[in-house]
Amino acid sequence: MAIRNLIDFGDVSREDWDALYAEACRIMDAPEAYAEACKGKISCNLFYETSTRTNFSFQTAMLRLGGSVFGFANPSSSSVAKGESLKDTVKMVSGYADVIVIRHPREGAALAASLYSDVPVINAGDGSHMHPTQTTADLTTILRLHGTVDGLAVGICGDLRNGRTVHSLIKALAKFQNVRFFLISPRELALPDYMRHFMQKHNLPFVEVTGLEAVIPQLDVLYMTRIQQERFDNPLDYERNKGVYVLTNSILQRGREKLLVMHPLPRVDEIADDVDNDPRAVYFQQGRFGMFARMALLKDLAHQPRIPQRFPLSDEGPICRNPNCITQTELYLPPLTKETEAGLCCAYCDKPIHPSAP
Ligand code: NCD
Repeated sequence: MAIRNLIDFGDVSREDWDALYAEACRIMDAPEAYAEACKGKISCNLFYETSTRTNFSFQTAMLRLGGSVFGFANPSSSSVAKGESLKDTVKMVSGYADVIVIRHPREGAALAASLYSDVPVINAGDGSHMHPTQTTADLTTILRLHGTVDGLAVGICGDLRNGRTVHSLIKALAKFQNVRFFLISPRELALPDYMRHFMQKHNLPFVEVTGLEAVIPQLDVLYMTRIQQERFDNPLDYERNKGVYVLTNSILQRGREKLLVMHPLPRVDEIADDVDNDPRAVYFQQGRFGMFARMALLKDLAHQPRIPQRFPLSDEGPICRNPNCITQTELYLPPLTKETEAGLCCAYCDKPIHPSAP
């Protein structure tokens, strides 16, 4: 692949995705042929935030390729608890590993890590920003089970403001033709501005609605998400929105015969258990597809050459005003910006940089 790090799915070209998907399919069709594809390679999983599936999926992906894995699933068991900076941890472990997988509660943490790592970095979720490898699972599921992404009507339901899997998925679907979006959320959990600007810039047709039942008959894919309790500053805001969508068997009866019901998981209550036995419910298969997609990704990135990085340092302090941006806590980070459809933005978290930000 042309990319060295996987930080944002927007950086992945359509050609790169097609090659990755083709490799994921070859692996899932004959996994034993890949049992030594990463022999001698080691991945380091730095999970600063809780995870079940993503961490296990990356671990099993590397193990199935014949490689090894080390890392932490809880930073309190590492030197992070002693106050070690992200850059020092990353620089250190990049001396031990061939690839780093990082999940962090702060937006932009994976990009920050990549500045100091001598080996490729994979973003396994940075706050409510992005989660590109979940997207590799999502696209693989749609392509394997539907045959195509082009022309589909995709409903995305739940917490679109805080759901990082949603943001990465939209960036990926922009690479296909004529995808139509139904964005289903409470108004206060609607898509963040930087993503709405992205959709407008890429001419992605979308409607924003608050009700699921009325639109379900029009969908080819229904991507459910949970309300992200841990991202709410005010617990009352969560209380007001929790349980707002519950897909039940009776609602699903209104959906098309070939509808795919997807979910990155974990679910809380947004999909009733009585949906699980419907053949259209593919969220557990989606998890398994994700492991094969991650095998294809690790196989490529773990073989890339080691490129020693200097320590980019700054004493300017953060210019981004997003309180959840990684630049707010890792104060040495250079204040990187980029020009986007929404104007000048923080390159770490994508939030606009202007006096009235965040
Ligand atoms: C998602 C995540 O962590 O963003 N889970 C996952 O990686 N499969 C979705 C979520 O936590 O709601």
